[in-house]
Amino acid sequence: MNTIDPSLVPQRKLSNGMVIPGIGMGTFGNDRFSSAQVSEAVYGAIKAGYRLFDCAAAYGNENEIGQVFSRAFADGLVQRNEITIISKLWNNMHGKGDVLVACAQSLCDLCLDYLDIYMVHWPFPNYHEPGANIEGRNPDAVPFSLQEYMTTWRQMEHLVDLGLVRTIGMSNMTITKLEQVLPLCRIKPTVLEVEMNPTFQQPGLFEYCLKHQILPIAFSPMGSPCRPERDTEKNDVETFKLPELVEIAQAHHCHPAEVCVKWAVQRGQVPIPFSVDENEYTANLRCTTRDFLTEEEMSRFAAADKNYRLIKGKIFLWKDAKDWRDIWDNES
Ligand SMILES: NC(=O)c1ccc[n+]([C@@H]2O[C@H](COP(=O)([O-])OP(=O)(O)OC[C@H]3O[C@@H](n4cnc5c(N)ncnc54)[C@H](OP(=O)(O)O)[C@@H]3O)[C@@H](O)[C@H]2O)c1
Repeated sequence: MNTIDPSLVPQRKLSNGMVIPGIGMGTFGNDRFSSAQVSEAVYGAIKAGYRLFDCAAAYGNENEIGQVFSRAFADGLVQRNEITIISKLWNNMHGKGDVLVACAQSLCDLCLDYLDIYMVHWPFPNYHEPGANIEGRNPDAVPFSLQEYMTTWRQMEHLVDLGLVRTIGMSNMTITKLEQVLPLCRIKPTVLEVEMNPTFQQPGLFEYCLKHQILPIAFSPMGSPCRPERDTEKNDVETFKLPELVEIAQAHHCHPAEVCVKWAVQRGQVPIPFSVDENEYTANLRCTTRDFLTEEEMSRFAAADKNYRLIKGKIFLWKDAKDWRDIWDNES
């Protein structure tokens, strides 16, 4: 197998002083890949040189991935302190007393005694069954509530005090929500995980994060071509077909996926592409170490943004919502 020296991969510093890799691997099988397939890919990715993994209780595979981490440590592939592990609090565990239990479960499943980064996965408690379609929406779903969110965040802060997590972060937030929440945080989030790709660049949110010393982690950095049916619409853009992306990929003799990664890393967000294919995930890591995009190519990207959200979160809608744009405070 081709390996990439992790010391060649760009690194990012968080506001609490932690240093993390500038690219990681996603672990959500998109309801398409089994836990065994995803966890084997994690093992292969560690061998290839990945040092950051984006896990979550909701992905239903932390147990299998935990066994793989243990195997990698036992095999001497990597040491615990050389690897950055993210997990996320799922929506049914926001209540008082729930967060410590959920974190403990993730630690147990992942076979770890601390997490590097723990995030609130979505800013509301709207649970749905794994793999549910739109008809499987929670009839009791509710919109964002500052009070509800802060009840959850106070418990996240407590996890830092206890030393169970090195830092805490948020996910799927908007500027509207961050403006309400940030002034109330005793421990501020150091990272925000949101959708960011060449067709949905979120320049306003990106700049907002930098201004507040929050590092953006970019999910679905390839435009999530295999996302679950329930979140697709007929006229969705296809990121890999963006003409500017196709042309720049041709100029660099590589797949558009690699250009998505290069663009993300050079812009400054941390992409966490998913793939169980060894050639793909190895290429995604290697491309961050060489053949960089020119300033002119980076400018072409900025102008190519379609402001088109692909991960809409339609499954989380509440009864009186107009449509999925309400989830995002109609910001885009
Ligand atoms: N915080 C959140 O709410 C949230 C939401 C969504 C995702 N995420 C995280 O973000 C991660 C990635 O997002 P995602 O899976 O939605 O989308 P993605 O990474 O944008 O797209 C993944 C797909 O891109 C294709 N691909 C990847 N590398 C490639 C390469 N080198 N060449 C060709 N094709 C390539 C693969 O398609 P094929 O399989 O067809 O090859 C793969 O299934 C997830 O695994 C998860 O960890 C977080």
